[in-house]
Amino acid sequence: MKQILGLTTVILLGISLYMNGQSELQTQTQFRQWQQIHQKFYTQIEEQYRRMVFEENKQMIEKHNSNPENTYKMAINQFGDLTKEEFVAIYLSSEQSQGLRRKQQKTKSEYIENESYDWRNTTTVRDMKSGCISSWAFSAVGTAESYLSVVKSQKVLLSAQQLLDCDSTSFSCNGGVPYRGLDYIADNGITVESVYPYTAKFSPCKREGGPYRINGEEDVDDLKTALRQYAVSVFVDATNWQFYSTGIFSNCEDNINFAATAVGFTDQYWIVQSSYGTSWGLNGYILLAPGDTCGVESYGVRAV
Ligand SMILES: *[C@@H]1O[C@H](CO)[C@@H](O)[C@H](O)[C@H]1NC(C)=O
Ligand SMILES: *[C@@H]1O[C@H](CO)[C@@H](O)[C@H](O)[C@H]1NC(C)=O
Repeated sequence: MKQILGLTTVILLGISLYMNGQSELQTQTQFRQWQQIHQKFYTQIEEQYRRMVFEENKQMIEKHNSNPENTYKMAINQFGDLTKEEFVAIYLSSEQSQGLRRKQQKTKSEYIENESYDWRNTTTVRDMKSGCISSWAFSAVGTAESYLSVVKSQKVLLSAQQLLDCDSTSFSCNGGVPYRGLDYIADNGITVESVYPYTAKFSPCKREGGPYRINGEEDVDDLKTALRQYAVSVFVDATNWQFYSTGIFSNCEDNINFAATAVGFTDQYWIVQSSYGTSWGLNGYILLAPGDTCGVESYGVRAV
């Protein structure tokens, strides 16, 4: 009898070790695949830590997605190996919001049932990459590209790097304010991405201005009214956007730390372009709940 019990214990122990081994192996395989897709390479010591963070993020995401009360879904993406604190430190900056012009009184345009606009086709999703807090520059070229496309019928990919290097009123890869970038474009003109490509780091200005011009910039009092014409630069709290995937987001905090481009709206949401590439969110976009969600209505500015 004792022997049989002993044998059973050994078998059970063996099975449980095997199962643990399998799930360990599964995790490792998933992490390896993710590493390959996103081209992440680490030293041996860092790899252990990154794998642990990845695993914790995956569990957090699964828990979030299994709660039916959440109005949006999360997914693992290129930020899978970063803690929330690291994501905030690398991609966001509340310091850059200094000098922003906040609207005290938000005028609201008339509500029109089923009204919707979508200017996603007038501007292009970019990837700011790590090492450069450049959302302000992508946000500025976002509204400028949309203006040029809609008003001047010029479809161009403008150079955000030129703003990072040449607009001395902002702080390049340490952040900046979109309206100052727009002032640079109004004063000097701007060139295109192919002439002055994005490098995700500061370099001394290689060439000033270019052939693409706007007349100036203006504050947007009512986001909806402005979005009936073309895209608008906005400044928002993006602290919890790290793993956004689909659905309507309203899980904001109270730090204005990321510049983005509002490109449209429906009765149910705002459509906002980010600069985390097309593998983030809805092909690079996020849907925000109506109203001043994450501050989307408070700092609007656009090219004119
Ligand atoms: C709005 O859309 C709904 C659903 O498609 C439709 O039933 C309704 O008639 C529409 N209202 C207007 C004013 O077009
Ligand atoms: C872009 O979308 C808008 C609004 O949906 C539409 O009016 C416009 O014709 C589109 N422009 C192009 C170039 O496809």
